[in-house]
Amino acid sequence: STRGPMTGKRVLVTAGPTVEAIDPVRYIANRSSGKQGYAIAAALRNLGADVTLVTGPSSEKPPAGVNLVRVESARQMMAASEKALPVDCAVCCAAVADYRPSIETDRKIKKERGGLTDLPLTENPDILKTISQMKEGRPRLVIGFAAETDDVLGHAEAKMARKKCDWIVANDVSPGEHCAMGGERNTVILITEKGDETWPEMSKADVARELASRIAQTLRGPTLV
Ligand code: PMT
Repeated sequence: STRGPMTGKRVLVTAGPTVEAIDPVRYIANRSSGKQGYAIAAALRNLGADVTLVTGPSSEKPPAGVNLVRVESARQMMAASEKALPVDCAVCCAAVADYRPSIETDRKIKKERGGLTDLPLTENPDILKTISQMKEGRPRLVIGFAAETDDVLGHAEAKMARKKCDWIVANDVSPGEHCAMGGERNTVILITEKGDETWPEMSKADVARELASRIAQTLRGPTLV
């Protein structure tokens, strides 16, 4: 495998959407493609890191040389992410569904049996928040993403404070030609303890390379895990 500044470092990356079953044939999901998270996993692998990529359903080709774990729901993503610990760094790029249907049925919902016009929801576990607030064995660097459609910086800063992650990568996911969700390019604001930096629009691979290089600089030095 590749040797580099991240050799000997373990990293967890979450990517893609989660899908939350309504019944055996229907689900709630979102437009995340997995592209940004896959690119981050590949960039960290290229620097020598031992990467576990936990991904929701995606049609992207997964990067070679990473430990790939495919999941569907937020609860499965949580379990797979916890299994990947301990790590030096966690990058939560997945678009995890905040809620899942409260109903659990192994039979298809049928109009003839009364159908369903209301969908009660239950809150999902928060992977980023759980990892950020670990009392023991917390990764040295926990990075969240924030997908926003307005007041991107304000909402992202609030999210960082609420979840207690170290950095947040904020991106605008307003619909349109250059939408970050599903598209090839991204314009991000990196927020760290030192402040915020707006990066120019670039490919998701370039965002990933730049972020991976920042991570490597920050984790420089021997691992104490
Ligand atoms: O997959 P692509 O098409 O390439 O698109 C990439 C992306 C736009 C999905 C990605 O760059 C991105 O912004 N991912 C985060 C999307 C999101 O769900 O953001 P959020 O603001 O709802 O969540 C904030 C953070 O908490 C994220 O790090 C998320 O992974 C994490 N989270 C949220 C809810 C939850 N239950 N568990 C979590 O870990």
